[in-house]
Parts: sequence; structure tokens; C-alpha cells
Amino acid sequence: MRLELQGISARHVAARAGQPAALKRVNLTVQAGEQLAVVGPSGAGKTTLLQLLACAHRPASGGFALDGQDPWSLPRSALQRLRGRLFLAPQVPPLPPRQRVVTAVLAGSLPTMGLLASLRSLLYPRDIPAAHLALDSFNLADKLFERVDRLSGGERQRVGLARALVAPATLWLVDEPLSALDPTLARLATTNLVAQAQQRNVTLVASLHQVDMALAHFPRIVGLREGQVEFDLPTAEVTPALLEALYAQHEHELRGEPVVAAREGDTPATQRQPAVMHCR
Ligand SMILES: Nc1ncnc2c1ncn2[C@@H]1O[C@H](COP(=O)(O)OP(=O)(O)OP(=O)(O)O)[C@@H](O)[C@H]1O
Ligand SMILES: [Mg+2]
Repeated sequence: MRLELQGISARHVAARAGQPAALKRVNLTVQAGEQLAVVGPSGAGKTTLLQLLACAHRPASGGFALDGQDPWSLPRSALQRLRGRLFLAPQVPPLPPRQRVVTAVLAGSLPTMGLLASLRSLLYPRDIPAAHLALDSFNLADKLFERVDRLSGGERQRVGLARALVAPATLWLVDEPLSALDPTLARLATTNLVAQAQQRNVTLVASLHQVDMALAHFPRIVGLREGQVEFDLPTAEVTPALLEALYAQHEHELRGEPVVAAREGDTPATQRQPAVMHCR
């Protein structure tokens, strides 16, 4: 899927009217089948960008097109069909706790099914080999029939990613997919995600706090800061100086140190400990 943003301004999906824009005049064009990582300090607008691309909320102003069409100009039924071609993996996947892993993974394929087939699939999962294959690629094949609430945070995060592999989507949007993974699993998950997207000619946009993972595995990097694109470059052209400027006053995030101590009223996103490792 091809993405085009021209002069886009947008508030965070949970922001109230009157709050300042989280994205300010963003220009971004992504060709079908491209894979890119979005990096930048906490609060830069990464999640807002992914939510916007997922058509979860409307931009306040600017031009937005998916495969040449403004989603918000489509009739509701066409917008719903378009959403079926988008896959968004939030940082904390919304998995029903008592569900089996196999069912949770196959839920990713529901947009291809009618209502009856969807209900049948939830009760009696049919394409078990597809779920097994998807889980195996994230080193989780042994959890196929486990209950979701018996998984660790990192295992749940990988179940959320495995859903992408059974989804009928041509755009994968993944928000901090590695935050609960150790370095070895983070490398495996990133390699797998990028390779699978390339094989399927799927457009992949991933927000990452692990700058080293972004540099090692993605061909293109977008640096976002205070809602604006600071750089948009092939990975080989991203220099330490650019990254230092991007994370100025947030150097601890670049080094993988904890985000500032939680303040009263902070969102969970700003309270968590980032899983940033080392930038080359
Ligand atoms: N729940 C919320 N309600 C209102 N405004 C919010 C909310 N969460 C974030 N914002 C605003 O939107 C801006 C962008 O937030 P966003 O979550 O997109 O950043 P981010 O780059 O994803 O940060 P992080 O790395 O911490 O996940 C923030 O700076 C803040 O001003
Ligand atoms: Mg975020």
C-alpha cells in the first residue's frame, strides 16, 4: 500500500479539542512494499502517526491518501473495507485473557471472513497450521494452545505480531513491537517482521525506541521530534550527529536509560522504562 501525507497536522487520538497538535505539517511518502522505522524521543508523535495511518482518527488538516485515495472521503462501508487491509499492532496487544493463543493469532485473519465464518473461527479455530507457522517464526510454536493470560509480556507481544502474518493486510503498522523483548528476541522479531514484509510486498511502518535495531534492520529511517520530521533518510545516511540532535535533551533515551521519573498525570507510555539499547 502506498502512503502519502502532505502538510498533515493531527492531535493524539486521546487528545481533547483545543490541545496542541502532536503532528505538525508532516510530509511523508512511502511506496508500496517499503519498510521504514520511525524513531524519536518520547512524546515525539510516533504513536499519533501510526494511529493516523491506521485511519483510527482524522487529521486536523493536510492531505492524506492510502493508495491514492483519501480514506476519510470514502463511504463508511468502503472505509471499513480499507481498514481490513490495514494491520495495527499497538504496543500492548488487546488480547482477551482467557483466549487460546491459536484463536488470538487467527483473529488477525477475521477481516477476510463474513460474520458467521468469523464466529465459527473464534469457537473452532480452523487454520491451525497457519497459526502454528506464524508463531513458529517468532519462536513461539510451543504456545499454540496456551491461554493468553498464562503468557509473559514479551510472549504476548510476539502473539500480537504473529497476527500480522495471518492478516489480509498490505500495510503493517507496529508500535514499539520490541518494548517487552530481550535483545536476542528483539533481533529475531525484527528480522522476521522485516523479512516477512519484504517477501509479501507489504508496507511496514514501525515505531522503535531501539535505535540500533532500526539502523540494523530497516532500509529507511524517519526521525520525528516534537511532531515534525527532522530527517527522512536511507539508513546508511543517518549519522550519529543527526541522532544526537534528534534526541537532544533526551540523550538518556538514546543510551537506553530510563525515561524521567513518573509524574502525576503522566500517561502509561511516558511512565514505562524504555527498552532502548545502544546506537552505533
Ligand atoms: N492520552 C493523551 N491525551 C492527550 N494528549 C496526549 C496523550 N498521549 C499523548 N498525548 C500528546 O501527544 C503527543 C504525542 O504523543 P505520542 O504518544 O504520539 O508520542 P510517542 O512518540 O508515541 O511517544 P512514546 O515514545 O512515549 O510512545 C505528546 O507529546 C502529548 O502532547
Ligand atoms: Mg508511542
